[in-house]
Amino acid sequence: MTRYTGKVKSVSLIRFNIPHYGIMERMRSLAVLGFFLISAALPATAQDVLPDGPGKAALLKVCHGCHPPESIAARRYDREGWENTITKMIDAGATGTDDEFNQIADYLTEHFPKQVNVNKASSAVLASGLGIAPKDADAIVACREKNGNYRTMDDLKKVPGIDAAKLDPKKIQF
Ligand code: HEC
Repeated sequence: MTRYTGKVKSVSLIRFNIPHYGIMERMRSLAVLGFFLISAALPATAQDVLPDGPGKAALLKVCHGCHPPESIAARRYDREGWENTITKMIDAGATGTDDEFNQIADYLTEHFPKQVNVNKASSAVLASGLGIAPKDADAIVACREKNGNYRTMDDLKKVPGIDAAKLDPKKIQF
């Protein structure tokens, strides 16, 4: 009796589970494919957030051990701010040469500078923060008061009379 029931079970398994098994196989293949796609995408993302340039190699060497590049790239500071952060990291245990820390400060100041909100900043803050002429900063404020907030770089470049080439998108926040 026991043996018989067992046989029926195994027959039904073979008969009814073949298509099911096929689906499982396909799902497993998709899962494996997905895993490879994700693991291929992750390093690419980490690389993408850090533009190439002098200091990148030092940053990856000195800073990468404790946190991913994304958490560094998410911050925006001026040079003093980056230097303060680096000093904090040295206190936290980051090790490197003075030359490496200088390169990292230069790199971060260049690629992740302090941003200025063009919809909120005063003319003086716009001029100093973006390094543009006071008359251009005045024009940005005047145009904002007349037409409302800027949403894109293109909006900003259309401000009459300004030197649009001086506007660094990395420093601009909307
Ligand atoms: C020994 C581990 C370690 C290393 C190496 C390290 N950090 Fe950190 N980092 C931390 C810890 C811990 C925190 C969170 C504590 C905090 O915010 O003070 C942090 C937080 C940060 C933050 C966010 C907080 C802030 O002040 O903006 C930034 C940005 C940062 N690190 C940048 C760097 C840079 C740049 C380097 C390379 C020079 C670096 N870290 C190397 C441990 C490290």
